[in-house]
Amino acid sequence: MDELVALCKRRGFIFQSGEIYGGLQGVYDFGPLGVELKNNLKHAWWKSMVYENDNIEGLDASILTNPLVLDYSGHTETFTDPMVDCKSCGQRYRADQVPETCKKEDLTEPRQFNLMFKTNVGPIDDGTSFAYLRPETAQQIFTNFKNIIDSTSRTLPFGIAQIGKAFRNEITPRNFIFRVREFEQMELEYFVAPGMDDHAHDLWVQKRLDWWVKQGVPMKSIELYNVPTKELAHYSKKTIDLMYKFPHGLEELEGIANRTDFDLGSHSKKQDELGINAKVKKNKDSNSKLTINVIEKGMVVPYVIEPSAGVERAMLAVLNEAYTEEELDNNTTRIVLKLKSHLAPVKAAVIPLKKNDDKLVEIAKNIKNDLQSLGLGRIIFENTGNIGKSYRKHDEIGTPLCITVDFETIESNSITIRDRDSMKQERISTENLKAYFMEKIT
Ligand code: GAP
Repeated sequence: MDELVALCKRRGFIFQSGEIYGGLQGVYDFGPLGVELKNNLKHAWWKSMVYENDNIEGLDASILTNPLVLDYSGHTETFTDPMVDCKSCGQRYRADQVPETCKKEDLTEPRQFNLMFKTNVGPIDDGTSFAYLRPETAQQIFTNFKNIIDSTSRTLPFGIAQIGKAFRNEITPRNFIFRVREFEQMELEYFVAPGMDDHAHDLWVQKRLDWWVKQGVPMKSIELYNVPTKELAHYSKKTIDLMYKFPHGLEELEGIANRTDFDLGSHSKKQDELGINAKVKKNKDSNSKLTINVIEKGMVVPYVIEPSAGVERAMLAVLNEAYTEEELDNNTTRIVLKLKSHLAPVKAAVIPLKKNDDKLVEIAKNIKNDLQSLGLGRIIFENTGNIGKSYRKHDEIGTPLCITVDFETIESNSITIRDRDSMKQERISTENLKAYFMEKIT
């Protein structure tokens, strides 16, 4: 973890937020390369959900959330962690995360602590008008269920996907970006007819495993955890957690839950008429029945299968898998990030051999612009005049290709391409460069 954290800071992936004022615990900023990696990951998820399925719609709902939404979802009452205070060191901990240095006899009895952030809404700050920062993106998907079926004419099964910020006032944020207070989630709520839920759940576990493998997180680094009944969230009938071997230990990367008809049932009016199976709080405030017509069954409250992954944990996993230290023949070590090319923050660096040679610089800039116009991601014009140093930097940030423009380029209209992983160099005609690049960067 230490090497990864150092690389992330040194090369501009991830910074502690508000660092110049001592930082803000559990909050991070994503630098020039971090924002590219994050966007690429989110795009890969969105593509696999919304574009590659014919029955999934996208949504971008608000972060500020009406407290009633979170009352009926159960968050006001149950979205808590037990916390204890250590009378010796004066620190507050999540009850299951007390360091060994604190003695048992110094700890207070555990008290429940709600993890939601509250904020004032409007000009009067007397506590009567407030909203929550959403603790998960899921709830606005449920509250928009009717809007989406009315505007898209969807029938079951179908899904709604969303990527966005979520906030949790974690008692002990830790392990770099693994457990933070502000993070992003990629969540799909997949609606199915009652009785079809178990099959759909199995299907989504497999689909999500396949996705992780495509992002460079192999099956050997993942374990499935069938969450025992006593640990299940209040809405879940069954949850499979994908546990990843993070540098600090085996922990949850993504959860795939069968949320039953709890959510749409909870947010519906006239619940007694709807045949809801889950135990829901009586809703006196909703103006809608969140049902859908199913042939031969009539109006039903759908069951929900929910794959939910955190973007920061995804970044940590792909960075951890990609981070490699290689011994070279000349007794030196190179650090290389072997990221999948679709995730790499920079797709190619174009490097003129001499930084003050106008002709080489002009050709390199033209190549950069040509490749950039393909729209496959960021291309960098790298004018350091030091090829070795440029290669080292681009290995460390995971750039799949380095393209060198030298004097032979002027004579024979060809450039040298260096492959990040094999370090092999080949000379190709400039005319073939676009096709070569498109084949390598997918
Ligand atoms: N809607 C269901 C839900 O929110 P969760 O297991 O609490 O379920 C889903 O969260 C995912 O969100 C987790 O698997 C994890 O990847 C990410 N996540 C949750 N809390 C987090 C935190 N404090 N910091 C970073 N990621 C977090």
